[in-house]
Formats: sequence, C-alpha cells, structure tokens
Amino acid sequence: MKDANWLNDLRVSYETRGLHESQLLPTPMQQFQSWLTEAIEAELPEPNAMVLATASSTAQPKTRTVLCKLVDERGFVFFSNTQSAKAEAMSQNPQVAISFLWLQLHRQVQIIGEVEQVSRVETEEYFATRARSSQIGAWASPQSETITSRDVIANRVNELEAEFKDVDQIPAPPFWGGYLVRPSSVEFWQGARSRLHDRLRFELADPGFMGRSVLNRADAWVVNRVAP
Ligand SMILES: Cc1cc2nc3c(=O)[nH]c(=O)nc-3n(C[C@H](O)[C@H](O)[C@H](O)COP(=O)(O)O)c2cc1C
Repeated sequence: MKDANWLNDLRVSYETRGLHESQLLPTPMQQFQSWLTEAIEAELPEPNAMVLATASSTAQPKTRTVLCKLVDERGFVFFSNTQSAKAEAMSQNPQVAISFLWLQLHRQVQIIGEVEQVSRVETEEYFATRARSSQIGAWASPQSETITSRDVIANRVNELEAEFKDVDQIPAPPFWGGYLVRPSSVEFWQGARSRLHDRLRFELADPGFMGRSVLNRADAWVVNRVAP
C-alpha cells in the first residue's frame, strides 16, 4: 500500500494568463465555443467529452461521460439510448448538470440546465452521419441493462448486420435520440497561480427566459465573479 500522502506530491501550478471580465464574449455559448475551439486547436483528447450529472426522482445523483455533438445558441446536444438509466433519470427529473474538463489548459466549464429531447428529424439527421458500425451498435445495445456476456451483443450485431444487409440508410432506433441541455448557468473556470483561480459565471437574468429564443442575447445574462 502506498504512503498516505502520495497523492499530495501531484500538485500542479497553474501558470496561465487568467480570465478577466473584459475578455468574455457576450453570451455563454459564444464564450464556450471559443474555449472549445481552443481545446480542439490544442489537440486535447476528446475535447467534446462532458460529464453529465442526473438526479433521479429520489434525488440520487449519478454521473457519466457523453460526447457533446452540437453546440449552438440553444445549448448542448448529446445522443444516447432513450431507455438507458440516464434517460430514465432525465425523464423523472430534467434538471441536469454537465461539466467539461480541459486539464492541459487548466480549464473547466460547469453548466446547470434543463434537458429535453430534440426532434426526431434532428436525431435522424445526426444518426445518418454516424459510421454504419456505430449505427448498428446503437441498435444492438440495450444500454444500461444487465447482460450475461459480451456474446449477447456480438450475436445481436450479427443478426442486425443480416437484417440491414440490403438497407442503404439504417434508420435511427426508436429507442435512441438526442438530448438538448438548455443552460441557465454556465461557469468558466481558469486555473491561476497559488490556487487563486478565476471563476466567471453567466446566469440567466430571468429564469423565465429558459427555453425561449433569447439565450443568444447578451442582455439575457448576468455575469458574476465567484471566489475560487
Ligand atoms: C469518452 C466517452 C464518451 C461517451 N459518449 C457517450 C455518448 O455520447 N452517448 C452515450 O450514450 N454514452 C456515451 N458514453 C458511455 C457513457 O459514459 C455511459 O456508460 C452510458 O451512456 C450508459 O450510461 P447510463 O447507464 O448512466 O445511462 C461515453 C463514454 C465515454 C468514456
């Protein structure tokens, strides 16, 4: 067993330029896109990976990683099985949180918001862009269910490959779709020297704005600096 303090030696000093109010773009989605672009340019692994937290009707939290496939003025879109554990939790309680962690840039973005399913058309459009093997994978997996062995899925993949042999465009499974997280709070965290990090948080000026088309207006948001 390692010495009790071994993780203490992992300290990293964040020598960054910091984040100042004057540098922020007018809306959180613009600011997010700017940081995501920088994470992509820095060639970080899976820069669009985000941790999604849900809380069930019994308020039990659970997190898992998903890939953000679309960011626009509405919010953040990911795709998943609509009968999965997360789908069940989100149908019980649409309040969710997501966070992006870009360690190499000493950056984190924390989002709080409400989730809803995207239209079937949007799901089909995205599904059509996926590799055929991933399309079959989506059909094959009863995500979050207990299975007896890996063979269960492998056999199902074989069956589906035969089933879809003559199908040019595999449709999205009825149990699969996109989810849109509409943010009400987006916090940008930039690590700085001596643990005096910068935290700038956009919050909806009027929570009643939520879900309306004003999220892309700067005056819909207030920005507060938060102590590190
Ligand atoms: C980097 C990474 C990306 C992932 N992307 C997705 C995704 O976009 N959609 C998805 O349903 N699961 C994705 N997963 C798997 C989820 O983390 C999770 O195992 C799965 O969705 C089942 O979660 P649930 O049982 O809580 O519903 C990803 C996992 C990792 C590590």
